[in-house]
Amino acid sequence: MIIEPRMRGFICLTSHPDGCAQSVKNQIEYIKSKGDINGAKKVLVIGASTGFGLSSRITAAFGSNAATIGVFFEKPPTVGRPGSPGWYNSAAFENEASKAGLYAKSINGDAFSNEIKKQTLDLIKSDLGQIDLIIYSLASPVRLHPVTGVLHRSVLKPIGQKFTNKTVDFHTGIVSEVSIEPCTEEDITNTIAVMGGEDWAMWIDALKAENLLAEGASTVAYSYIGPSLTEAVYRKGTIGQAKDHLEATAFEITDSLKSIGGKAFVSVNKALVTQASSAIPVIPLYISLLYKIMKEEGIHEGCIEQIQRLFQERLYTGNEIPTDEKGRIRIDDWEMRPDVQEKVAALWKLATTETLPEIGDLIGYKKDFLNLFGFEFEGVDYAAEANEMVAVSSIV
Ligand code: NAD
Ligand code: NA
Repeated sequence: MIIEPRMRGFICLTSHPDGCAQSVKNQIEYIKSKGDINGAKKVLVIGASTGFGLSSRITAAFGSNAATIGVFFEKPPTVGRPGSPGWYNSAAFENEASKAGLYAKSINGDAFSNEIKKQTLDLIKSDLGQIDLIIYSLASPVRLHPVTGVLHRSVLKPIGQKFTNKTVDFHTGIVSEVSIEPCTEEDITNTIAVMGGEDWAMWIDALKAENLLAEGASTVAYSYIGPSLTEAVYRKGTIGQAKDHLEATAFEITDSLKSIGGKAFVSVNKALVTQASSAIPVIPLYISLLYKIMKEEGIHEGCIEQIQRLFQERLYTGNEIPTDEKGRIRIDDWEMRPDVQEKVAALWKLATTETLPEIGDLIGYKKDFLNLFGFEFEGVDYAAEANEMVAVSSIV
């Protein structure tokens, strides 16, 4: 069938298999162009199908020849209806890995559940023995708690007071004021339950209990800080509480891995267009201004450039891993450069529907958004019939 983008609000309902495959190929080419990374050889990526997790899987596989197991929650295609982008990304990744002689298998299901954890542990046991790197890159709006059975929903709200600021609808380019009411106590608890560190620790505990972690194994989860502009709704809002919890969990996991000399890290990454970040008010306006500045300065990065730098210049240099005063790895260093932030803050004041096309990178934002769903890639013939029923046997 011929597949075109179909938008509803902040999501795109369709995705393009060939475009997703192109995105994966482009990322693989980028990693190969940067040379070998002396990294982990057996890698588990939780949240492996899109965004930072997919780039982590590609970097491990094509930068260090790693065997990878990916866990994600995606929709396979059915006749006449495309699958989700993450499904096509993963299918393409597995095809490319197999062509390159690299082990790659995936498990599609709810990573928060006991069943999917058990299935993953069984696969590691039978195929890889032990894992030496676990990337934890889940972004989810809900978590069904495996012990209590409670369904937690995360929210993106300020704490304590109403937040009012500018935002942009990136589809129409209209800049308007948005107000978000403060959260309840329950919202905080729920958001921490979904996006905090409990599930990360559960994964590591389960792997350790079954002796599936290699000596010196490490694990990395992803966080975000961002500027004062977005602080009230992000870092000091409900999601920030969850990120604080995630960051604190890294220390607990490191303690629990003492006996095998293992370590847990949080890497603070740059703001990027992903399905998750497009849904947060204010963030799209910030990103469109940030992109403009970072592109002008020649320091713009996407997920793959960020993760390549994380692996090559932070995790696997052969020296001690550099961290900030809170023990976090920082690859948001270029985003947070004072000169970059000063310029964004100045543009922020000027941003209106009329000025944004000039002072912001709305075009770049939209392209990145469509790219998430496999659209607008060079080298893909979108007028041609696409085969949406891609089949891959290594995804279970
Ligand atoms: P994403 O939406 O692109 O990826 C989320 C992944 O989680 C996908 O692979 C999805 O299939 C998987 N997933 C979601 N729910 C699942 C479930 N129940 N079971 C199994 N898999 C599930 O998100 P992303 O933007 O790459 O975010 C990954 C991490 O990076 C998050 O912790 C996020 O906060 C962090 N981060 C994002 C940004 C940004 O700007 N996008 C910046 C810094 C840090
Ligand atoms: Na991810």
